[in-house]
Amino acid sequence: MRILRRLTIGQKLTSIAMLSSFAALVSASIAFLAYDLHTIRQSLARRILTDAQIVGFNSVSPLLFNDAETATTTLGGLRAEPAIVAAIVRGQGDARPFATYFRDGPSAARLALPAHVAPGPVFAADHLLVSEPIRFEGRPIGTLVIQADLAEIHSRQRRYAGIVLAVLGGSFVLALGISRLMAKTISRPIVRLADTARAVSSQKDYSVRAPAEGRDEIGLLVGTFNEMLDQIQRQDSDLKEARADLERRVDTRTRDLAAANKELEAFSYSVSHDLRAPLRAIDGFSKAVLSGYGPQLDERGRHYLERVRAGTQRMAQLIDDLLGLARVSRRQLVRQRVNLSEVAGQVAAELARRQPSRQVRLDVQPGLSAEVDPHLLTIVLENLMGNAWKFTGKKAEAHVEVGQRADGPEPAFYVRDNGAGFDMEYADKLFGAFQRLHADTDFEGTGIGLATVQRIVARHGGRIWAEGGVDKGATFYFTLERNP
Ligand SMILES: Nc1ncnc2c1ncn2[C@@H]1O[C@H](COP(=O)(O)OP(=O)(O)OP(=O)(O)O)[C@@H](O)[C@H]1O
Ligand SMILES: [Mg+2]
Repeated sequence: MRILRRLTIGQKLTSIAMLSSFAALVSASIAFLAYDLHTIRQSLARRILTDAQIVGFNSVSPLLFNDAETATTTLGGLRAEPAIVAAIVRGQGDARPFATYFRDGPSAARLALPAHVAPGPVFAADHLLVSEPIRFEGRPIGTLVIQADLAEIHSRQRRYAGIVLAVLGGSFVLALGISRLMAKTISRPIVRLADTARAVSSQKDYSVRAPAEGRDEIGLLVGTFNEMLDQIQRQDSDLKEARADLERRVDTRTRDLAAANKELEAFSYSVSHDLRAPLRAIDGFSKAVLSGYGPQLDERGRHYLERVRAGTQRMAQLIDDLLGLARVSRRQLVRQRVNLSEVAGQVAAELARRQPSRQVRLDVQPGLSAEVDPHLLTIVLENLMGNAWKFTGKKAEAHVEVGQRADGPEPAFYVRDNGAGFDMEYADKLFGAFQRLHADTDFEGTGIGLATVQRIVARHGGRIWAEGGVDKGATFYFTLERNP
């Protein structure tokens, strides 16, 4: 059965047809041979029995007159039946033969005719024995036993077996031809259907059709399959149209959005830029008032003017940061392979130079690299490492780590510190412009750094997220599309 499974449909059909016709032929031949054997044995037995009856009848008077010579001559008449090998007449109750006949001479007759043979024909493997009682006036006076060989039956059976084999061989060839032809008519449409299904699934070409053949169940199957393809093709083209329409709409929207964004950026840029001049005027004139009219003012007046100047300077800082954020969006992205470990080392050196009193243990994983805009990536590391530096300011043993995570769902770079940390509840607020989770008095800053970082990461096609806990430090992860 396992071999059958590996065959093609055509081969399966041919084998089934061949096996069944072969089985039918073999059983018919066996039945025919058996019937023929039975008939020929019957006819031989009948023939020999008739001979026995005639010879038996003719042996009555020789037996009565004890004339062995005539009895032998009578037995010699059996020569007419070539199947008879030997015959023997015995007187009643006499074990010695009264008269004998041997077809091939007495020397060839090694046949030991049994003394008592049941009346009638008895078949042995290679001979037939017929025993006929010889009677006179109803009283048994002797017995005639005839032995015949089965050579005739055997040669006839050999001939028949030869004929049966020849017929079987001929029918085998004929059946093979016919069943192949028939199998082809059944398997061809199925094979074509399978080819079509394969073409559809591998090339996603729904325009192909299986050739229609016949009106039987396979023809029905092919028709239904083609109808199904019609439907799929229609749905596919509808889907393609809908997708094209969607893409067109997304395109238009994206273009509108990009234009609006550009306008907004230009607006915020020029606003920030234009705000600087009046701010400089306020600061400049406050300074002039302080230096020119300082002595005329009392302590409180001078303090107020100092506060005005501090306010304008903070606002100038805010505007500078905003401009930096705007520049990050406007700047063209130029990717090249950058050694992140090296940049992190430079940023750390600069941070250490600015605050020589700080002791920060720094661990940078060597060999970090990515295909990014080097200028923008430096801004990312400056901000993230700057924050790590800043928020570990109150720790006795500050520790900052830069590396790449290999175990997560996506490879991500990270900057980790053991500083003040933050409440995870507000983790999503970190990246908004001017959003700060720490008081100005604890850690100074404008709250624009992470917004800038997020914009740069997004422009690279990556994402940024943070993990941390209050007083448990913070880790900032970011991915950059097309990183190694
Ligand atoms: N490493 C960190 N540990 C703890 N909190 C952090 C860390 N980095 C950022 N934060 C929190 O996120 C807020 C936003 O950070 P962001 O860098 O944008 O602003 P900033 O550092 O306060 O100011 P700046 O604009 O000068 O960077 C911070 O005020 C702080 O509350
Ligand atoms: Mg910052």
